Amino acid sequence: MSASPEKYQMKRTIIVVGTLLLGAGAVVAQQEVAVQQDNLMRSQAKSMYGVILKMTKGEIPYNQKAVDEALTSLEADVAKIAKTFEVNPKQDVVNATYGASQKVWQNKADFDSKIPPVQKAIADVKGKIHNVATLKAAYTSINDRCTDCHETYRVKLK
Ligand code: HEC
Repeated sequence: MSASPEKYQMKRTIIVVGTLLLGAGAVVAQQEVAVQQDNLMRSQAKSMYGVILKMTKGEIPYNQKAVDEALTSLEADVAKIAKTFEVNPKQDVVNATYGASQKVWQNKADFDSKIPPVQKAIADVKGKIHNVATLKAAYTSINDRCTDCHETYRVKLK
């Protein structure tokens, strides 16, 4: 049962192609992880900047229901940060403005410790926002906690 040179060559080709495909699959998977992480942050930004900040500036009219919904959505998103950033994609989203620092995964416990203060800030203002003035104060107190994490763990790429 000695393999012919042709068969040997074919096996080698299959192995090489297989390895290349696996490699490409891993790169795609890592890019997907980076995209998921970025999408979570963008979703938070939609609530914070797309709704709350715009209302504080009068760019859109004050709307209690929209405020309450933005806070609920933000709360749900923030609760997903620790899990969404569990895996290190070791690459940035293609063409992204911001990326995650490798420090996130060198110091995941400290990274995770930046999340409860955001949750507390949201809980503290919930039910207490009734107008633009109280919304402004709420925006600042939440956003300051977002910044506490970004200062160390977010990198500006361009
Ligand atoms: C525990 C850490 C942490 C917290 C808390 C956090 N972020 Fe981030 N954020 C990151 C990291 C890391 C990045 C860079 C990687 C990325 O974009 O996924 C980022 C990126 C972003 C970006 C840029 C996305 C882009 O590529 O355009 C926005 C916007 C953002 N965060 C908004 C927020 C808001 C709003 C909050 C608070 C409600 C918040 N983040 C809280 C870690 C955090």
